[in-house]
This record gives sequence, structure tokens and C-alpha cells, in this order.
Amino acid sequence: MAPSSKPRTIIIGGGLAGLAAAVRIAEAGMPVDLFSMVPVKRSHSVCAQGGINAANKVARQQGYSEYMHFDETLYGGDFLNHQPPVYDMAYWAPRIIDLLDRMGVPFNRTPEGERDLRMFGGSLYKRTHFSGATTGQQLLYALDEQTRRWEAEGLVTKYEFWEFLWPVLDEQGECKGIVAQDMRTMEIRAFRADAVVMATGGNGLIFGKSTNSVICTGGAAARCYQAGAWLGNPEFIQVHPTAIPGEDKCRLMSESARGEGGRVWVPRKTGDTRRPNEIPENERWYFLEEKYPAYGNLVPRDIATREIFWKCQEGYGIGGGRMVYLDCTHLPDATKNKLAGIFEIYEKFTGDDPRHMAMKIFPAVHYTMGGLYTVYTARDDYKGMVEGAPNNMMTNIPGLYAFGEVNYQYHGGTRLGANALLSCIFDGLFCGLSVANHVNDNVKNRADDLPEAVFDGYVKQEQDKAQALIDADGEDNPYTIGREMGNVMTDRCTVVREAEGLAKCLEEVRNLQQRFKKIRLSDTGMWTNQTLSYARAVWDMLLYAEAIVLGADARKESRGSHYRTDYLERDDANFLKTTIARFDPATGEHALEFEDVPTPLVPPRARTYGQTEQAAAGAKA
Ligand code: FUM
Repeated sequence: MAPSSKPRTIIIGGGLAGLAAAVRIAEAGMPVDLFSMVPVKRSHSVCAQGGINAANKVARQQGYSEYMHFDETLYGGDFLNHQPPVYDMAYWAPRIIDLLDRMGVPFNRTPEGERDLRMFGGSLYKRTHFSGATTGQQLLYALDEQTRRWEAEGLVTKYEFWEFLWPVLDEQGECKGIVAQDMRTMEIRAFRADAVVMATGGNGLIFGKSTNSVICTGGAAARCYQAGAWLGNPEFIQVHPTAIPGEDKCRLMSESARGEGGRVWVPRKTGDTRRPNEIPENERWYFLEEKYPAYGNLVPRDIATREIFWKCQEGYGIGGGRMVYLDCTHLPDATKNKLAGIFEIYEKFTGDDPRHMAMKIFPAVHYTMGGLYTVYTARDDYKGMVEGAPNNMMTNIPGLYAFGEVNYQYHGGTRLGANALLSCIFDGLFCGLSVANHVNDNVKNRADDLPEAVFDGYVKQEQDKAQALIDADGEDNPYTIGREMGNVMTDRCTVVREAEGLAKCLEEVRNLQQRFKKIRLSDTGMWTNQTLSYARAVWDMLLYAEAIVLGADARKESRGSHYRTDYLERDDANFLKTTIARFDPATGEHALEFEDVPTPLVPPRARTYGQTEQAAAGAKA
């Protein structure tokens, strides 16, 4: 047994949520071990482009407020979000921006020196702060510097190129550490901790091609799920309207392009094969602007995505195919310069310069609204959470927390653009204190006092699993299985869903699970074996995919990103509820139940986004 040392926390994930949590917990004087599969500066947060929302001084001068930010987030999320945490997030947002500014984030500024703002989806106000079109990168680098400061102080220890494999639970079911694998030497070992924070992001790879990085498998969350953590709303997946479809993946073309005035259109004539510059104005169909005059191109993502999807289905896609135009050619040069970060990406991957040629885009899976199920302590008036309450964003496993995208709390049925960076940093900063308080005040059985045998048992479990994969001598290929999973999940369980398609999807996912049992790895070496890491994640993704499909099937309504062609209306009476999924490792079965979502501050209202009456009547007909 190791002698008891100072209580410590483990954080899994080096993106914004993980780094913000590391800084906050270290600030509270507690040592932190930070694990990341990649160098933290390559975490997926680095890909975020458009910005971060907050009601600052300039936004307030337009009549915007924290309360409106709060309300918009709920309206965007179709009222499935939890109101107290969203309230806090919106009211803390201006302070978070001030903090980031002081850390040196190079926010764009107006000629008067104020932080500049841009429009973003789901709002009629400019309230999105930005650094060109590489905001995530600038924020991540700033927080990385702060983390390094605590590293120098000896309070943060980084484990880069380590993969989280499993949470360690004691006999009482409390989380006491993790098992992880060094992705270079392939060593598997246990690490003790008195609390563990999962800040592992989304699961876009379940859908094959997405805007997510290749590490965004959802594998870490799925492992916690198999170890007893519950999932909340697994069926809620965001499809971003504007991405460049690619052979290998889809590349985000930021909402900021529309926020700065970019326009989405299709040729009015189906099958039109002329170049966009040859199509005169009166032969272009600006279908979002026409149907949603108030929000235009800035309707929330689920709505824009469905409209684009339908236009292509009706044959209006470019050349009759599955792409529409995102046009920024008319913007002034100064505005185009603010979008240089994404224009360069577009030009690099397509050869066309968006300054002079309309971009060709199509929706792509982008964000995971659901995730690990968590709880919190609300204030008596529900206007926020009790600051420092030990259970804020704790999963159902005591001592195991979920922050950032892997936490299901904030975004309900659809996340508004530029709220992701905010919720990640807010979780880390606000709930980091909760973690420290839990460890200091509630933990009776210290991880260091547990017998070594507990940890050895978990290490052996993971070594055996890895060895079984290395020894597998079947014929199937995990990459083929992963690709087929992505295809069926994208075809049957993204933009539009219905019972028959979901049943087929479930059957296919279960077939793939059977096929997975007969795989063979192309690399069986024990040095940087990425095939092993991927294959392990494929199994986890297949289980997570099953929970997504089951949730999508059980939710017999349309809400936010979850759109059922066989249940077109939102059904608050039956489904203003969180889907909770539990996994039984003994049977391999998932069990679903629904939990009411309280709406103490804002009662749900119809989510129309000012759709024209004519269009609304058409949609119902
Ligand atoms: O479109 C974007 O720039 C993405 C931002 C976000 O997902 O919040």
C-alpha cells in the first residue's frame, strides 16, 4: 500500500474543459495529473473556429443581456437543457471573456479598441467574440500557457500520449483513479486519484466522416458507461450545416462565414451545372433567407442543416448533387480578412479561393449534445448552481466528473454556435472548485489507502483485453467495421430519423458487434500500436452507437437535432425529459429511462425562429 500523500485529481483530456479544470483545481492548491492522447495543443478544441458568446459591454449597448443569452440557449436547445447551469454559464460568460483577454487571447478589436463582435446562429444580436476564424486555437494556447505555469509550480503533471482505458472504482463504487496506456511504449498502468474529471469531448467518429478529429471516438465516455456511468440524451447529435465533404473527413466551414454575411443558396433550376459566378442573381434561391426572414442564414444549425438536406433531396443541390453554395464573394475585403483562417483551409482542400468563388458545402456531424449524465446543486431560486457544491457535474459514480462536450447538461436538443467553447471553459472554471471541495470535504477513503491489489486487478483486466485484441486471429478488419458503422449511422441516424431506418441501423450495428468478435489486427507490435488503440475504440463506439440508436428510437417526437419524420411535433407531455441510458455489463443490455427536465425559470415555447406563416403552413401540410 502506498503511503498517503496529498489528495490529487486526474483530468482526462487536454482541451479547453480539461485545461480550465486543471488551472482551477491547481489554483485551489490540489495536485492534478492531466492525461491526453495527443499533445494538449492538438486537442480537438484547437479546431473550433467561429467564436465564443458573451453579453459584454458592446453587446449590451445593442440591448442584449446575459438573460437573453440564457434564454436563447434554452430556445436553441428546445428546452431540454438544464436551466440553472445554463443560467450560470450565461452570467459568467462576460467574466470568462475578460479573463481570457487578460491571459492574452488576441480577440479581434474594433477601431475604438473594444473587443469586436460578430453575429452567430440563433441570435439576432452581435454577441460572439472571436479571434479571426481560429478562436479555439487562440483560447487553447492561452489556457495551455496557464497550465504550464502550474506545471512549473509543480501542481500539474502532464501525461501526453496516454490513453484512458478504464476508471478504477473501490468497493463502495467510488472512483479512485484510472488505468491508462502509454501510447508509445504500450505500458498499461494504474494511477491513483481522489477524483477523476472526464473532459474527453465528443463522439463524432461514430458517424465516420465528421468535422471532429480522429481522437473524437467517444471511447473514453463509452468505457465509463460500461463501468457503470450513465449516459444522458445519447441520441442528440449535432450536424453542422456547412462543411467541406472530403474523402477522409469533413472540414468545418465556420458559421462565422454566415455571421459575417455569407449567404447560402442553390440554383433555382434543378441540375444546373453552371459555375456559381455564371448564375445571375435572379436565378439563385436564398432559401434560408426566404423561409426565415428574421434569422436568415443564422437559424440554428439543426434547422439550417435540414433545409440544406431537403433542398438537395428535392434536386436543387449543385449540379443535382449533395452540396449547396456558401457565398462570401460579395463581402468587403476587411470582412474577408477576418475569415482568412477558414478561407485558407477551403482553398487548400478544394483549390478554389472563397474570396472569388462561392464555396460548395454540405452538412456534417459536428457536436455531441448528449454525453455522460451528471447532476448539480441548484440555488434555491434556480438562478444558477451553488458555487463549489461538490456534486456539480458529477456523474452517478461518486468522484467521477464530466466537463465540457462529454457533459450532457448545457445544450439540450441543439447547441447554439459559439456556446461550446464557453460551456467547456465554464465547466472547468466553475466546477473545478466543486472537484476540489469534494476531495477535501467528502472523500473518506483516500485512493492512496486502497490496497495495491485493487489497482492491479484493473490493470490486469485491461492488459487481458489488449492481449485478446493482439491475439485475435479472425478475418475482419476493425477499420472496415468502423467505416461501415459510420456509414449506417450517418445514413439512418443523423439529420432525419424514422422507426424503420432506426431498426435497420440497430440491426446493422449489432451485426458489426458480432463481426468485431472475429477481427485481426494488422499491427500486433508493442510500440506505438495505433491499430490496437483504434480497434479498442471501435468496440466502444459500437456500444455507444447502440445507445444512440436506442435513444433515437425511444424518443418518439421531434426536438432540436432529433427530427423524426414519423413524429413531426415536439411532445412536451411525454418527452420534456432526459433520456438516461444504463449499461449492464453482465448481459450486454442497455436500459433506457426518462427523467423530467425541470423548467423553473423559462417555460417552453414553440421554437419557430420567425418562420414565415406560409412556410410553416407548408411544413405542416
Ligand atoms: O462554425 C463554427 O465556427 C463552429 C463553432 C462552434 O461549433 O461553436
